[in-house]
Amino acid sequence: MAKVISLITQKGGAGKTASTNALTVCLKHKGFRVLCVDFDPQGYLSFSMGVQHNLPTVYDVLRGTASCTEAIQHTEVADILPADGLLGNFVYEFSGAGSERLLKDALAPVQNLYDYILIDSPPELGVISVNAIIASNVVLIPGLSDGYSLQGVIQVHETISRIKQTLNPSLVLGGMFLVRFYPREALSRTTWETAKLITQHLNLPLLETRIRHSNVISKVMTTLQCDMIDYAPKNTAVQDYINLTDELLRKGVF
Ligand SMILES: Nc1ncnc2c1ncn2[C@@H]1O[C@H](COP(=O)(O)OP(=O)(O)OP(=O)(O)O)[C@@H](O)[C@H]1O
Ligand SMILES: [Mg+2]
Repeated sequence: MAKVISLITQKGGAGKTASTNALTVCLKHKGFRVLCVDFDPQGYLSFSMGVQHNLPTVYDVLRGTASCTEAIQHTEVADILPADGLLGNFVYEFSGAGSERLLKDALAPVQNLYDYILIDSPPELGVISVNAIIASNVVLIPGLSDGYSLQGVIQVHETISRIKQTLNPSLVLGGMFLVRFYPREALSRTTWETAKLITQHLNLPLLETRIRHSNVISKVMTTLQCDMIDYAPKNTAVQDYINLTDELLRKGVF
């Protein structure tokens, strides 16, 4: 039975998609069977994995016009349930009772085929992210090391906690981690100290591993079908993602 992990924050550009890609690759290199789910109408995770177009997406699975197995694509990087702009219709098409559980139900038939399912989400805390949170066993919150990004953590924590209390009691808040970290810059170091205070206040784990800034990440995300560990195994940010995966496994979050 796969453990389902979603990366959630309403903050745009906070590293959700890059981290979903990276953690998928790291788990796959450890020999785990991993599926990633693009649950963002922007479709950047699908783009980064070089998915084929004009094939069923997660939207078709939600509508019941394709099965999950039919929609999953097996790319060079990983298995992915892709998304495109049509997922944006979700907000209008599906509302009312039960609509928040659609992704959970959609993934049920493939739960036994994978060890991990990682879900990328859009920069919002509406019905799409709520579906991702309800479908998950664990949520992770990435945050930019720029100071501002932390402002949103209280809000995302509140939303996740509310869903945990009402709709998904066994949900684990796996923690927050910082991305695009510059070890030598004062702003990054201050953000780290602030992150410690905020997470302590919220009783939210703060992951020790910080993902350093590296242009290799942007390069990998825009080079279709590029596995970051094969491409740049010694790169600092890639090493950080490998260490973050180890930390999450060690702490029982993964
Ligand atoms: N460690 C890193 N070093 C350098 N660039 C990075 C790093 N992590 C992410 N980026 C880049 O930062 C930008 C934003 O990252 P990403 O797309 O993962 O954020 P996001 O939270 O998914 O954004 P959105 O909310 O729009 O979906 C991208 O261009 C990505 O390539
Ligand atoms: Mg994204």
